[in-house]
Amino acid sequence: VTFAISAAWELGFLDALQEQESVEIEAFASEHDLHRSSVRAIAEALGCGEIVVLDEDGVVRPGPIFAEVFATKGFFYWLTRGCGELFSVMPSIIPNAARQGDYYHRDLRAVGVACRDMGYQFFDAPFFSFLDEIDFEIAADLGCGSGERLIRMATDRPDLHGVGVDISANALELAHEAIAAAGMDDRIALVRADARQLSPLRVFEDVDLLTCFLMGHDFWPREQCIGSLRAVRRAFPNVEHFILCDTYRSGLLPSAAAPLFTPGFEVAHALMGVELPTLADWHGVFKEAGWELVEQRDLPVPSSTSMFILQPG
Ligand SMILES: C[S@@+](CC[C@H](N)C(=O)[O-])C[C@H]1O[C@@H](n2cnc3c(N)ncnc32)[C@H](O)[C@@H]1O
Repeated sequence: VTFAISAAWELGFLDALQEQESVEIEAFASEHDLHRSSVRAIAEALGCGEIVVLDEDGVVRPGPIFAEVFATKGFFYWLTRGCGELFSVMPSIIPNAARQGDYYHRDLRAVGVACRDMGYQFFDAPFFSFLDEIDFEIAADLGCGSGERLIRMATDRPDLHGVGVDISANALELAHEAIAAAGMDDRIALVRADARQLSPLRVFEDVDLLTCFLMGHDFWPREQCIGSLRAVRRAFPNVEHFILCDTYRSGLLPSAAAPLFTPGFEVAHALMGVELPTLADWHGVFKEAGWELVEQRDLPVPSSTSMFILQPG
């Protein structure tokens, strides 16, 4: 069912259901030149999860949990399209001998698409409400993924300039397409760099707002995180606010009550060799890394996620 949700979203089926409230399988398949039996099978799989309801004429309508699944589709997409290959080779990459070099692959473009949707659904409201409280002119986003957060900020503030930093060429390609489509090439620059070891660049010099969503755990382990966050401070000498928002190790597992995404997120990072920090781990690094934690805003979804509002210490 998880894979069916991702496929249905990518193929436009979930959006069609959201917009039109009913979709005829035959018509949808022929309109998009899709294999009709596969579309029907996906709809039936979604029906097993009560996400949709099918009638005898092949008409599909939203089911009892459609709205909840539509809001959380980014998490399913992250797990399947973004990390599917990682999970499928799980038994092969657990032996220590196999964990050498580039021993796994994820689709970071899909991760970017997934996170963009999580952003719309769950991160934008607390983030943009914080932005209303501060002044800034140039923003940089570390691990910018799809670039959507910068685009949204620049849409709200016509004088804003921004720079997105990401390590992945695929993520930057997605960001570049979106920035060009928004007509913001002259206002948002992109830099391919490893945020764990940033060097000062001219384009970073006047940045006064720094953001980093859903990649903070890549700074860890602790000593490396402290070094990286210090380097971030040096690379952005005029930054006034640093908003770091991340999902941390929940400490909830094992638990039958944990949201589905939590074990998926924690297993994926264990497989990739990323030691997810706990909330207490985060609290233990800011000061030493040269940042003062001014405020912490906890997000209800995803679980175990906080927005840390930092200033140079
Ligand atoms: C989970 S995605 C989040 C994307 C975006 N911040 C968002 O909220 O939609 C994490 C992003 O961080 C990038 N990333 C991971 N490690 C990085 C590093 N060391 N330096 C720069 N970018 C990194 C990934 O390529 C990916 O685009």
